[in-house]
Amino acid sequence: MNTVPLTKEALSPKLEHLAALAARYTKPEFSVAHGGHVQTIAAGHYTVTGLSRHVRLGEFVAHKSATGIHLGEVVRVEPDLAYVCPIEPGEPIGIHDTVIRKGAFRIAPSDSWCGRTINSLCEPIDGLGPITEGLDRRSISNTAPPSMTRKRVDKGFKTGVRAVDIFSPLCHGQRLGIFAGSGVGKSTLLSMLAMADAFDKVVIALVGERGREVREFIEDTLGENMKKSIAVVATSDESPMLRKMAPLTAVTIAEYFRDRGQNVLLIVDSVTRFAHAIREVATASGEPPIARGYPASVFTELPRLLERAGPGPEGTGTITAIISILVDGDNHNDPIADSTRGILDGHLVLQRSLAEEGRYPPIDPLASISRLARKAWTPDQEKLVSRLKSLIHRFEETRDLRLIGGYRPGADPDLDMAVKQVPIIYDVLKQSPGDSASPDAFADLATALKAAAGMPNQPGAPRRG
Ligand SMILES: Nc1ncnc2c1ncn2[C@@H]1O[C@H](COP(=O)(O)OP(=O)(O)O)[C@@H](O)[C@H]1O
Ligand SMILES: [Mg+2]
Repeated sequence: MNTVPLTKEALSPKLEHLAALAARYTKPEFSVAHGGHVQTIAAGHYTVTGLSRHVRLGEFVAHKSATGIHLGEVVRVEPDLAYVCPIEPGEPIGIHDTVIRKGAFRIAPSDSWCGRTINSLCEPIDGLGPITEGLDRRSISNTAPPSMTRKRVDKGFKTGVRAVDIFSPLCHGQRLGIFAGSGVGKSTLLSMLAMADAFDKVVIALVGERGREVREFIEDTLGENMKKSIAVVATSDESPMLRKMAPLTAVTIAEYFRDRGQNVLLIVDSVTRFAHAIREVATASGEPPIARGYPASVFTELPRLLERAGPGPEGTGTITAIISILVDGDNHNDPIADSTRGILDGHLVLQRSLAEEGRYPPIDPLASISRLARKAWTPDQEKLVSRLKSLIHRFEETRDLRLIGGYRPGADPDLDMAVKQVPIIYDVLKQSPGDSASPDAFADLATALKAAAGMPNQPGAPRRG
């Protein structure tokens, strides 16, 4: 057999040729695309042959149809088949259409996105023209920073909402849930919290909302604050894939600003609709349900999303997350409410009965907790709040007794105090989106209680219950 001696001279042109080829083919325009073909089509998903060995779960593919190119996400991979959920509803899919692997879905947020409303794919939907991408490209399914590298949460801030600042004060980097049935006041409270001065940026994910509410939220409630806000919207009529992606896109944008040292507020309204979207996608791909129709993946996706909020590593900013959770039929123990409550650093419970009384925001001060409240209160405030809670508890537990005339003043000094002061406290807590934010909720409370103590029989002094 003839062999060519491997001398330095003989090798070098070959190596140079190889290096030139490598340089050419590693340029993005020459990267090798893996492709396959549509094999079966069903409601909610289609299958592709020839891609299984090249794609990973959660990656994106581009499907070439008669009307153009449409994105889809890989939701299940079998030895010979990849299951894909189309991103846009109603795209025409034909047997044997070409499908190309695109890889992880990446977005490139930029400061210029502030003031804009975009969809889950980062396309502008506010009619204000195109948006420019930044240079920092990130996958929307990033993971949270490792826990030991994260800063500690220890700095309180004022939301301007008295019921929150007194009973459940928040810290930068906290994750808080608002739990309530439908129409009780979650979105309104979120919009009030979005006005807090304490943030450099506000990123809002509106998932599964009615189209009408989206404009109201953005134009009426955010108003001036929209300048430092970015809204990511997937309305109820959009595909489950887009609804599932909206909070992921939003948290990725929040991470971009956090990594630039900013304090970001992330709002997700609602996480339940995000869970519903995951359930729809999972059902389409054949994942079995385990609790109330929810597949296991919901219970891994929720902590993955919420864990990405919180304080960043040293040298970066924080993401404070406030999310709403719809409790089906006012049942506070449904699986989504249950599993999110465990992951969060606090929850506000809104009661329909308070809303019906006109006590807005209808936050139940006894059922709501902020696990980081002690870092936000002064020791005196903490003592005061504990006293206020015991007065409220006393007032509420004797409500029926007082209604049937079983209360006589003078028999129980604690109850007398509760009957006198709790209606005043309730009045101080009332606040609507149009009212100005309170710079110091404790001062407002002190002023009201002092005024009432000085003028016990004034007409107009609140007396209810
Ligand atoms: N703080 C508030 N002040 C006055 N009215 C409120 C307040 N919060 C809620 N509401 C009333 O309740 C309705 C439903 O509130 P919304 O926030 O849309 O509920 P949810 O998001 O829980 O479905 C609003 O249209 C409004 O009339
Ligand atoms: Mg709502």
